[in-house]
Amino acid sequence: MVTAVAQRLLSQRKQVDDTLAHFSLNRDQLRVVRDKMRVELERGLRKDSHSSASVKMLPAFVFQTPDGTERGKYLALDLGGTNFRVLVVKIRSGIRKSVRMYNKIYAIPHEIMQGTGEELFDHIVHCISDFLDYMGMKNTRLPLGFTFSFPCRQTGIDKVNLVSWTKGFKATDCEDHDVVDMLRDAIKRRNEFDLDIVAVVNDTVGTMMTCAYEDSKCEIGLIAGTGSNVCYMEDMRNIETVEGDEGQMCVNTEWGGFGENGCIEDIRTKFDREVDEGSLNSGKQRFEKMTSGMYLGEIVRQILIDLTKRGLLFRGRITEPLKTRGIFETKFLSQIESDRLALLQVRCILQQLGLDSTCDDSIIVKEVCGAVSHRAAQLCGAGMAAIVEKIRENRGLEHLEITVGVDGTLYKLHPHFSRVLKDTVRDLAPKCTVSFVLSEDGSGKGAALITAVARRYCGGAQQQYLYSMRFSDETLLEIMSRFRRELEKGLSQDTNPTATVKMLPTFVRSIPDGTEKGDFIALDLGGSNFRILRVKVSHEKKQTVQMETEIYDTPEDIIHGSGTRLFDHVAECLGDFMEKHKIKDKKLPVGFTFSFPCAQTKLDEGILLTWTKRFKASGVEGMDVVKLLNKAIKKRGDYEADIMAVVNDTVGTMMTCGFDDHRCEVGIIIGTGTNACYMEEMRHIELVEGDEGRMCINTEWGAFGDDGMLEDIRTDFDRDIDRGSLNPGKQLFEKMVSGMYMGELVRLILVKMAREGLLFEGRITPELLTKGKFETKHISAIEKSKEGLSKAKEILARLGVEPSADDCIAVQHVCAIVSFRSASLVAATLAAILTRLKDNKHVPRLKTTVGIDGSLYKMHPQYARRLHKTVRRLVPECDVRFLLSESGSGKGAAMVTAWAYRFPGLGSGRHKF
Ligand code: BG6
Ligand code: BG6
Ligand code: GLC
Ligand code: GLC
Repeated sequence: MVTAVAQRLLSQRKQVDDTLAHFSLNRDQLRVVRDKMRVELERGLRKDSHSSASVKMLPAFVFQTPDGTERGKYLALDLGGTNFRVLVVKIRSGIRKSVRMYNKIYAIPHEIMQGTGEELFDHIVHCISDFLDYMGMKNTRLPLGFTFSFPCRQTGIDKVNLVSWTKGFKATDCEDHDVVDMLRDAIKRRNEFDLDIVAVVNDTVGTMMTCAYEDSKCEIGLIAGTGSNVCYMEDMRNIETVEGDEGQMCVNTEWGGFGENGCIEDIRTKFDREVDEGSLNSGKQRFEKMTSGMYLGEIVRQILIDLTKRGLLFRGRITEPLKTRGIFETKFLSQIESDRLALLQVRCILQQLGLDSTCDDSIIVKEVCGAVSHRAAQLCGAGMAAIVEKIRENRGLEHLEITVGVDGTLYKLHPHFSRVLKDTVRDLAPKCTVSFVLSEDGSGKGAALITAVARRYCGGAQQQYLYSMRFSDETLLEIMSRFRRELEKGLSQDTNPTATVKMLPTFVRSIPDGTEKGDFIALDLGGSNFRILRVKVSHEKKQTVQMETEIYDTPEDIIHGSGTRLFDHVAECLGDFMEKHKIKDKKLPVGFTFSFPCAQTKLDEGILLTWTKRFKASGVEGMDVVKLLNKAIKKRGDYEADIMAVVNDTVGTMMTCGFDDHRCEVGIIIGTGTNACYMEEMRHIELVEGDEGRMCINTEWGAFGDDGMLEDIRTDFDRDIDRGSLNPGKQLFEKMVSGMYMGELVRLILVKMAREGLLFEGRITPELLTKGKFETKHISAIEKSKEGLSKAKEILARLGVEPSADDCIAVQHVCAIVSFRSASLVAATLAAILTRLKDNKHVPRLKTTVGIDGSLYKMHPQYARRLHKTVRRLVPECDVRFLLSESGSGKGAAMVTAWAYRFPGLGSGRHKF
């Protein structure tokens, strides 16, 4: 017979079990959590969904984990966990590699956490001041790394805007403000000492770095403490919110926000909702509120209140302590759950908290704590499974081995949390072997390591000049619209005379139509090589092209001498070519690719407006280059030639590519120089009569900015390059972009960095100071992903500097910034041409092909991909095919010649003035 007492006990048991059942998650439920987390990770990374994603995936601007070469003495702050710490960190590299730290813990009173921003930062600076006094370091201006454990939107390692406070902080006037500015202002207000604030990092990032210093497999940082969060090394190509594709960057997931969009409501209990409602940031950080130390005790308290109200606990009496928010700290939870603790001791702990309990009560309290912390560990495990699986897939691995660096009181103090977490990860990510290492030294050490690296290549003053070379999409869109206006200005009759982008009519009216045939000679002058070609286009069943090429020298004294000598040289080479190919007796039609800005009124006339790039022969500007060449040939008298067409290399390239792809209507060169041509509607070309059909316009975009239009993005290095060039004040866009100048740009930056002691231990060699010693082809070699660093070492050694491993990384970084800037700028101007074509055609989407040539585009390992990607981002409404001209512009020049030969006289058109 069951007694009434036993029945009551049974029913009590059942009610408690029913309540706690809501906290037990089975394997399927956890898998769903893992998969939802994965979806949110992806959403946070993608540009289109980032703003509405609950897991923010904030770029941390940390590009690599430590490699042991870091060194120096740093100050570190660690704010946002249980303790606020100020530290000095001394890092040694080399054989004596070590890290020594001295720290002091300071309290941050509640009223300051939730007071004004000024009070909070004044308090922080007060603590720093005390620490510097204590260490006797007030007069040294140390670099500072700041662990700031809150979600921040970064645009650089020291450009850090607080998104929103989390956990126990709620100081006013901080959200949306720059953390570095707020700290700097407070330092100024105190006016006692100065600091060089180099880096701000999240605690997860600091923790990952601390652990990675010992274990290079550590590429994830986890905090299970007051708050809950994870960071990991993500591939740059997946982080759409940051420009650039190469390498990796650490992403601070801020997974605490998971579920803010309601996606885990099915597993949230009424207790979770109550905790949320009573918190400082209700509705926010829902995952954090189910998993982290600051809230687990609160969930326990809510359950205890509920059970007490239902008469199942504490004899039904809700006492004052039970009503007190925050009394169940993580440490009590950890103690209560300890297996070694007898029930009597549990009762003692409850007693300390002011809760008078029976033996049964203490059993129930222990169960409640267990249910809540077990769920927390499982949820973290499910989230971690999503992260490691993502990394495994990124790397295309069957199996991933990886280490997670962990910190936080919950992980460290709780008796079961870490075991349940690991079991869950093992279960939900079977293709990954995940090791967890505890961060013994806190995140301050990691922050100092990051500071060491950041200072190495982007700290202090040089950060500004390197940063000003990186453009956001907003800036690129602005440049694109400026260039769009330049196009219009150059086309219109009224504004053309003062336009910098000349928009030169070329009298080429269509791309090859497949009927061209004949035997031609093409000259190709103005790129890195002077070429002469014989191009035979036959037209039996199918059109086929046969080409024979010779490359000739163009020595400096000739291209900088008199025009007569230059054209004599060209005529001499042509004679040699005809001799070699036994065609001296034939009068073959000649197409002349002359890659300089020429005014044309017909196909076989080209009045040189101005020399660009390396050329500066006298007496040619203002003259018709066809006449000059004819004169030189006549003077020789040993052969005859019929120059039928002069074409710019962009036009030759468009025609070469147009031969294979009829959609091709743009030609661009990214080589020694840079330029573009495209097919414009005749009705818009006010300089040439006639409204029907289209004509190719040679934009001469290299001159973009010659009227000051790009001053806001030009740097002092660009100004230096311009001053030292053959044509100061001209071709300013070209000088920021093209191969002739890029190597020199890098050289100037390296000299400056070396002068500031940031490279080569401050050593500057005569070679490094010599103009032209660093070439664009070196940039291409250094940016190669595999052997880039060893190439850097080789190239720098040839410049007489003995680069350290750090130096090589830094130089690679500089090269990437300069070449990336070039690709971004070309993307912006090309995007302007594409939108113009689209508008001309009145179509909602433009499908087109761009023919491209030039050594920079062809040789640089990343250039093409960066360019294509940026164009697609800037003009998503255009489907662009980029077609590399495999056979140079000579073939295209022959196509134009074929046309001119077939329809003599048609290749002209009167200028309106
Ligand atoms: C410390 C780190 O060890 O752990 C802090 O140095 C971090 O940066 C903290 O915020 C997290 O744990 P808790 O439990 O103090 O929030
Ligand atoms: C070549 C073309 O392939 O590329 C030339 O035939 C053109 O006409 C040249 O000028 C541009 O590239 P670079 O790098 O030689 O200036
Ligand atoms: C909170 C913060 C986050 C931090 C975590 C651990 O989730 O938003 O930035 O990493 O707590 O301290
Ligand atoms: C320079 C020339 C231009 C040429 C380009 C690429 O910008 O002015 O005509 O197309 O270089 O070679």
